[in-house]
Amino acid sequence: MEHVRRKFRELPHARERCRIHQKRRQHFREPVLARVHVEEEIRQRAFEARAETFVNCKARARDFHRSAKVQNSGTFANLPVRLRRKIEFRRRAPASHFDVDGLLSGVEGDLVAYGFDSYCHYETRVLQRRMNWKLVVDTFLESYHLSSLHPSTVHPILHNNTGTFDAFGRNLRMIAARRTIEKLRERPESEWNLIPYSAVIYVLFPNTVFVMQGDHLETWHVYPFDGSPDESIMYASLYIPQPAKTDSARRHWDRNMDLLMATVEKEDFPLSEGAQRGFHSGAQDKVLFGRNEPSLQHFHTSVKAALADSAGAQ
Ligand SMILES: [Fe+2]
Repeated sequence: MEHVRRKFRELPHARERCRIHQKRRQHFREPVLARVHVEEEIRQRAFEARAETFVNCKARARDFHRSAKVQNSGTFANLPVRLRRKIEFRRRAPASHFDVDGLLSGVEGDLVAYGFDSYCHYETRVLQRRMNWKLVVDTFLESYHLSSLHPSTVHPILHNNTGTFDAFGRNLRMIAARRTIEKLRERPESEWNLIPYSAVIYVLFPNTVFVMQGDHLETWHVYPFDGSPDESIMYASLYIPQPAKTDSARRHWDRNMDLLMATVEKEDFPLSEGAQRGFHSGAQDKVLFGRNEPSLQHFHTSVKAALADSAGAQ
């Protein structure tokens, strides 16, 4: 994390030093690392909860702008939501064995340090939107839109247009600073811990987004819906460090999920769906990412590289 420390020292308003938890877990088990080949077609067939209650189920195929909600208290290591999919591979099936460390390309050091293996699943929402799956990932990859698109939801919490970027192979890490980070100035650098004062965003290439939200973990898994490049289905989950055993705790985590859903459902995704419609207008034939969008550049460069690798392997 020295690299991150150096980057935050370089920020104009945050010469902060981060200190990620030094505690290393030996058995980090992430059940969602299964990599989806970017050219595979995924047809969502069914959504099963494992011994948990499927509540407030509003989602149906092509019933857009609605979400399904799943709650349970299973552990992170035993993700309770099993997705049964019919996967049609256009060209080839994935290898039965793959190199996890190779795919993580160094980002595993951060993931192990968080100790997610002891976290509990709180809730998963299932969303369908009329937008390409990559636009869902894009949503997380720059922070300069916070002031204009999220003036009353996220912008009061996070600094606008401030963050770091690091690549780990085709994965990436982007760190945004919470406004509370100013409190660190009151403490000696030796006591600084960046995690409660930031949102640490990871893209585990190609279709998984992890957000370490200070006191909990938020994950997103996104897939093309019904094989369409114009539609996507995604699973947004909260994982919490301790089981929510009291009404007060449940209210706290419900507020977190409600804020997340309000932000993406009412602000981010309507804009992205407009962009998706715009792609079909013929008004533009390319998308240019700016120098202030390194995370977006890296993600889309990685997608292109993966597609080139796939084409070369044929
Ligand atoms: Fe946003």
